[in-house]
Amino acid sequence: MTVAPPPTLALIGNTPLVELTGFDTGPCELFLKLESQNPGGSIKDRMAVSMIEAAERSGALKPGDTIVEATAGNTGIGLALVAAIKGYRLILVIPDKMSPEKIAHARALGADIRITRSDVGPGHPEYYQDMAARIAREAPRGYHINQFGNQANPLAHEITTGPEVWHQMDHRVDAVVCGVGSGGTLTGLSRFFARVQPECEMVLADPEGSSLAEFVRSGNLVPSGNYAVEGIGGSCVPQVADFSRVHKAYSISDRESFSTARELLKKTGIFGGPSSGTLLASALRYCREQKEPKRVVTFVCDTGSKYLSKMYNDYWMLDQGYAERPATGTLRELITRRYEEGAVITVAPEDTLLTAWQRMRMADISQVPVIENARCVGVLDESDLLLALHDDANRFKSPVREAMSSRLETVSADAALPAVYDIVNRGLVALVTEGDSFLGLITRSDLLSHLRRKLQ
Ligand SMILES: Cc1ncc(COP(=O)(O)O)c(C=O)c1O
Repeated sequence: MTVAPPPTLALIGNTPLVELTGFDTGPCELFLKLESQNPGGSIKDRMAVSMIEAAERSGALKPGDTIVEATAGNTGIGLALVAAIKGYRLILVIPDKMSPEKIAHARALGADIRITRSDVGPGHPEYYQDMAARIAREAPRGYHINQFGNQANPLAHEITTGPEVWHQMDHRVDAVVCGVGSGGTLTGLSRFFARVQPECEMVLADPEGSSLAEFVRSGNLVPSGNYAVEGIGGSCVPQVADFSRVHKAYSISDRESFSTARELLKKTGIFGGPSSGTLLASALRYCREQKEPKRVVTFVCDTGSKYLSKMYNDYWMLDQGYAERPATGTLRELITRRYEEGAVITVAPEDTLLTAWQRMRMADISQVPVIENARCVGVLDESDLLLALHDDANRFKSPVREAMSSRLETVSADAALPAVYDIVNRGLVALVTEGDSFLGLITRSDLLSHLRRKLQ
């Protein structure tokens, strides 16, 4: 008896399109196509199935082969989804700035993940695309699917995304705003609209730091900088990217991309990733610059749930310097997680060591303050736990009070930074207080984040 394959691949595409409300769109109507609704959570599912099925049809990919690809994560998830259903092995090379949720999703689908550097460019052996090509050459029966040079990638958008937009917009589209990762979306949509509505404007949304917007403006490829938005932008023009129909480009900072995506979620409940913020911010600028009413389409390219630990985490935003505490010149600025806001993970003296350890694991921290009546009465760290438990695991049931260290290093919130360095350099945690009240901790990691924010 043969078992029918899971129907998941049939769920790719045919995503909803909604009109954006609650934002100033000048004289224009702005529509969002929710690519976040694809089964892998992004626009990339479309090209993943298209590239794998094209390779099967051409005979380049056979049962038992290993697919290899360089990806920011979403292509990897799309490929992993299709590979899992069709039974291929998959090796993904992912740059280290990509969100842990995307990597975990691809890994859970069965992909073999190789993390590489995100701060090196073409020609460097650790550049993700060069590394994928090398792994594919060296792996037995390796097949480099290469989204950047694979014509089945733009084709997916020419024959699915474009016609869907055209139909959903009642054949009235004046401009399409999109980003370029591999260029598949831009090229496919350009080809489709060149046929059905040649006057439709193609607009590039690009992260500040990427070289592509300047390439559109002047034809020059200036060296690119760093940016935190994932999935779009880059330092070179991918082989499948056709910019010939793009005459307008916007460069959007990480900060604006993040704040726009967060605003979209708060105002509409639509949960997009950082690049959706880049696209929406560009589309809003385009709409507001228009003198005539236009019908404009852009994309929510992936779901925000892939970025809960990053852009949608207020503390990550503070740590990375995308959000700020008011400048006071005192230690208050360094305490990103404040006790009074319920943001500090704590334990009570009578909690068990097991409770303390579980909270520490869950929050990925190596020490917790012990709080009694809003006052810090101790600190428990991993070495205190090991000391208490190493010869008897049953002591996990003992109270924190018996293992915590009560030698506290407190420092006033009004003190200046050197006071904390002194404490932290001795391997201790600085407990910041105001009068009798506990405000929060400053650890080595807080100091490193503080220094990272100062990096030019
Ligand atoms: C997260 C993400 N991935 C990919 C893309 C587009 O990718 P490509 O140029 O490879 O079609 C976008 C486009 O905005 C995106 O936001």
